[in-house]
Amino acid sequence: MGLFSLPESQIVQQAYDRYSSLYDLILKPWLVFGRERAVELLDLEPSDKILEVGVGTGLSFEYYPPGTNLIGLDYSEGMLRQSLEMGKSDDVKCHPELFQMNVEKIGFRNSTFDKVLAAYVMTVVPDTERAMREIIRVCKPGAKVVMINHLRPENSILATLEDALHPLVSSLGLFSLDRDLLSIIESCNIENLTVEPTSFFRLHHIISFTVKK
Ligand SMILES: C[S@@+](CC[C@H](N)C(=O)[O-])C[C@H]1O[C@@H](n2cnc3c(N)ncnc32)[C@H](O)[C@@H]1O
Repeated sequence: MGLFSLPESQIVQQAYDRYSSLYDLILKPWLVFGRERAVELLDLEPSDKILEVGVGTGLSFEYYPPGTNLIGLDYSEGMLRQSLEMGKSDDVKCHPELFQMNVEKIGFRNSTFDKVLAAYVMTVVPDTERAMREIIRVCKPGAKVVMINHLRPENSILATLEDALHPLVSSLGLFSLDRDLLSIIESCNIENLTVEPTSFFRLHHIISFTVKK
């Protein structure tokens, strides 16, 4: 079967499997922004149960304090293999428990987590609405969620440019440019939404909110 006849979820999974060993080398410098701040915004308490969705190679692990009760999931076996190694690094003070799992079908019960982090993931997943519903389902009422993500530009010329680029970038399986993540978030059962720019050219934003009680 050719790459382009695969379901979108498999295209994404295979793309990240393929690039997992090169991810840190190529993408770390572009995706370093906002991680420390995102973890800071989680307002971690020692008793918190934390879920990081789409952990990738574990680039956020070093920012969690020692003893953090962290569960990480990712769809790609290759990325998880890298994150297992990252978990053993001297820079990492927490001991994440890792699962191969689809964020669109999270295998945890309702109301399990106090905090959720999603870094550079929400417009990579094939179905952002479904991923949001699942994240909110596994959150306890009042749980805090922090995301780092590209947001659709308000400038209509840039938005049109992104629409034009979308078929090309999505066929590579690495990310999509056709969604309005902020509108999707605003349509969910959430409150206390904040958005702050991060990275040069304000390319990415840190979005935080709490799940309504
Ligand atoms: C751009 S990378 C970001 C990785 C990491 N969070 C970071 O900040 O470097 C996107 C990650 O999302 C994962 N991913 C994509 N679709 C997914 C899904 N449906 N369920 C779980 N993980 C998924 C990919 O395998 C990849 O590791």
